[in-house]
Amino acid sequence: MVSIKTQVLIVGATGYIGGSILSELLKSPDSSTLAISVLIRRSEQAKTFESLGVASLPFQGLDDLNACRDAASQHDGTPVTLWPFNIFLADDLTIVVINAASASHDTSAKALIEGLALRQKNTGRNAYFIHTSGTSILGDHPYTRTASSDHKIWSDEKDDIYEMEKQHPERYGQRITDVAVVEIGLSVGVKTYIVVPPTIYGMGSGPFATLSQQIPNLARMAKKRGSAAVIETGKATWNHVHMSDLSVFYLRLFRAVREQPAWLPSGPKAIFFVESGEHTWLQVSQGIADAMYKSGLLATNQVESVSLKEAAAEITKGNESLAEISLASNSRARADFGRNQLGWNTSRGLEDFLTHFDAEVEAMLPELSLEQLR
Ligand SMILES: NC(=O)c1ccc[n+]([C@@H]2O[C@H](COP(=O)([O-])OP(=O)(O)OC[C@H]3O[C@@H](n4cnc5c(N)ncnc54)[C@H](OP(=O)(O)O)[C@@H]3O)[C@@H](O)[C@H]2O)c1
Repeated sequence: MVSIKTQVLIVGATGYIGGSILSELLKSPDSSTLAISVLIRRSEQAKTFESLGVASLPFQGLDDLNACRDAASQHDGTPVTLWPFNIFLADDLTIVVINAASASHDTSAKALIEGLALRQKNTGRNAYFIHTSGTSILGDHPYTRTASSDHKIWSDEKDDIYEMEKQHPERYGQRITDVAVVEIGLSVGVKTYIVVPPTIYGMGSGPFATLSQQIPNLARMAKKRGSAAVIETGKATWNHVHMSDLSVFYLRLFRAVREQPAWLPSGPKAIFFVESGEHTWLQVSQGIADAMYKSGLLATNQVESVSLKEAAAEITKGNESLAEISLASNSRARADFGRNQLGWNTSRGLEDFLTHFDAEVEAMLPELSLEQLR
């Protein structure tokens, strides 16, 4: 007898977010009802996924649009070539693609959605797309343009995030991709959902990458300079969320997507924030300074202000606008949908964020100590 399973395809499963989503699904009671596959570009990683009961599909990368489309459009109940074996996929009812590879690669997101549309057409079964964006979509330019004085706090229930992204005067990859995801989903009849995480902290639980981006990048910059740095005044405010809490959010959203309750919006109304509080960039830099000083990686816990230009040269290949949006802007949001509809919440607050830096620096010790030897 063929068991009826939901097929899940994760793109970005070797990464921090995608790997943690995979682990959350695997450890959930739902796992026995899921047939999970991942798109990967390095063949040597297939064995690890195989040991987790996860099938690997090879592709050349996100620009391999045919592979993205094909992976999402596989017919269920028919043998498909899964590398390195031929595996008979379970006769699943639905497929959910979870994309956590790149928030700003619009063409691969489109190809995945087109593949899902093809699958829906060929099988009559439902297909859904969960995309990962980031709250830099809300970021302002406090140092290079007139700072917005109100620092609006965006609600994913009360505000029209899609319209804001669509009408935004500044071209920015993550907003372009969000809009593309919604529009292609609407045009081909595939329901889409976009998760918009802020600064993610804490160790990931996936099989490969376990470090986040912003805090590790600032720690690397501190190591290189010999002291922690903050861009300009560091007064601007962002949200944060622990990776474990974000994983739970994805699991809850995944369940809702699978079950399709009447209250679940999709498309333009389904752009969701996930946060557990707010910090300033100066608090981040001071946390890094204190942790790296304590562990002997820095000789001082003083935080130095650096210009946007200097930071951009070190972190974003000279792209000042990107450095400002992603490491110095105001970006404020509330996870109202998660709290009010999904039943998601967390007891972690600002205190947890401010005391996590020791653990983050400890996790980076092998890398940061190596830098020291160079
Ligand atoms: N971390 C955060 O705080 C945060 C917050 C909000 C939004 N985001 C966004 O979420 C996305 C994922 O973030 P992350 O922290 O999980 O990043 P990550 O650890 O670098 O993981 C990225 C994943 O996507 C894959 N990938 C990236 N580019 C690819 C390409 N061109 N072709 C094929 N595979 C590719 C990587 O595969 P390989 O292992 O083969 O490289 C990896 O599996 C990023 O766009 C990021 O900007 C991150």
